Amino acid sequence: MFRIFVIAVLPLFFVFSSEIFTFLSGALCPSCNCESAKPLHRIPRPQLRPEFLALENGTDARLGCEDVGYKMHVFSREPLVVYFENFVSAREREHLLDISEKIYTPSTITHNGGQTSDRNTKVRDSEVALVPRTEGVRCIERRAREVQGWREEVWIERLRVQRYNPGGHYSHHFDWSSGRGGWGRVSSFMVWVHGEELEGGGTEFPRLELRGDKKKWCKFIECEDNLDGEDSKDKGVETAEDKKGAVFKVIPGNAVYWENFRSDGTGRGYNETWHAGLPVKKGVKVGLNIWSYGRID
Ligand SMILES: *[C@@H]1O[C@H](CO)[C@@H](O)[C@H](O)[C@H]1NC(C)=O
Ligand SMILES: *[C@@H]1O[C@H](CO)[C@@H](O)[C@H](O)[C@H]1NC(C)=O
Repeated sequence: MFRIFVIAVLPLFFVFSSEIFTFLSGALCPSCNCESAKPLHRIPRPQLRPEFLALENGTDARLGCEDVGYKMHVFSREPLVVYFENFVSAREREHLLDISEKIYTPSTITHNGGQTSDRNTKVRDSEVALVPRTEGVRCIERRAREVQGWREEVWIERLRVQRYNPGGHYSHHFDWSSGRGGWGRVSSFMVWVHGEELEGGGTEFPRLELRGDKKKWCKFIECEDNLDGEDSKDKGVETAEDKKGAVFKVIPGNAVYWENFRSDGTGRGYNETWHAGLPVKKGVKVGLNIWSYGRID
């Protein structure tokens, strides 16, 4: 028995240094460029600052939260992008508008991993409210943790409500400014809070690919057929270009969630999460950002 085994294994030694081995090792790592995918260098966890993070202190269970009965649909598996119907209730939306109304300040853009920020209305034109952690707000924070499976070493950032008046927009960007050191903004929710009688203002992901049935998704994303008149005239054939990119409509109560970083241990962000808040043409859009900060892996 043993002898047969040795005989069977021996030839393998001879092929190890040959081209076959090169081929085999390539086959083990078929989808990545192994040379460029360096393992992540992780620094010790930065200090958790309660001014920025909605830290949980074990009292969440006592909150009397509504069961909003959200429905979810996977838009993309890689990166993970999930669409939610009814993520926040009408009552919660009212509450968010109420508590933000008096505390809006002009939105800024952060640089260097959050160390500096400035205002540039060409890039971002909106107002932001860092909302107090009322019971209603804590219920939404709790839901965001629940959706993410109470993920370890991930914390919800303090919730921010963004208001866009006509002309308001946010140019294409990533939600993380730095993933270095193995800690960063691991995921994002865009929740639509207000946008009745709105024109424009959709959330665009130009690099994201829809693999599902586009007709079903037209409820939630812009489709050519939604446009009326001249725009749809020359749209007979669907090209590959049409499949790339999605503009999520502003539907109050609904939300889109996505993962910012790959889970392959390289710490690289997903290019496909590049997105924009398109200019509001008419009406006022109010959105809620729920970002999660923590360990990238
Ligand atoms: C827990 O955190 C919430 C939200 O910040 C706060 O309102 C509450 O008083 C805290 N409870 C305890 C026991 O620390
Ligand atoms: C990501 O986008 C950058 C430019 O924005 C490009 O240089 C790079 O090749 C892209 N990476 C992948 C994996 O698509």
